[in-house]
Amino acid sequence: MKKLIILSLMLAVAGFAYAAEKDAVHSIEIPVVKTELRAGEGMDTTEKYCSICHSLDYITMQPKFPKATWVVEVNKMIKVMGAPIPEADARVIIDYLSAQYGTGG
Ligand code: HEC
Repeated sequence: MKKLIILSLMLAVAGFAYAAEKDAVHSIEIPVVKTELRAGEGMDTTEKYCSICHSLDYITMQPKFPKATWVVEVNKMIKVMGAPIPEADARVIIDYLSAQYGTGG
């Protein structure tokens, strides 16, 4: 009988421990990996639209392009990839990219 009581107590304690563990809130920290764009006019607009689908690395890892290439690239994002960028903002972005990540021509 005494053994049975001890066994029951052990089971109860184990049960409480399991329930407490199951309900415990675990939190994890996700590191924020942010690509910094070069400061310049139009940076905010570029950051806002060009980071919707992918990292801004896609911009910073490109070689320097002539403006015509940035025009094609931004239009490809809009027409082929479906980037929701109004025309006026697209112009701001193209000017920014040409100035900061362009060949100057
Ligand atoms: C609607 C989603 C979307 C938005 C918004 C977007 N892109 Fe993209 N982008 C893509 C996809 C999809 C790819 C192709 C990814 C791949 O091939 O892995 C891509 C690829 C790229 C590449 C790599 C070269 C290429 O043509 O594949 C560059 C550079 C790029 N994007 C620049 C931009 C810039 C600049 C902007 C802001 C004007 C922008 N993206 C906004 C979807 C988007």
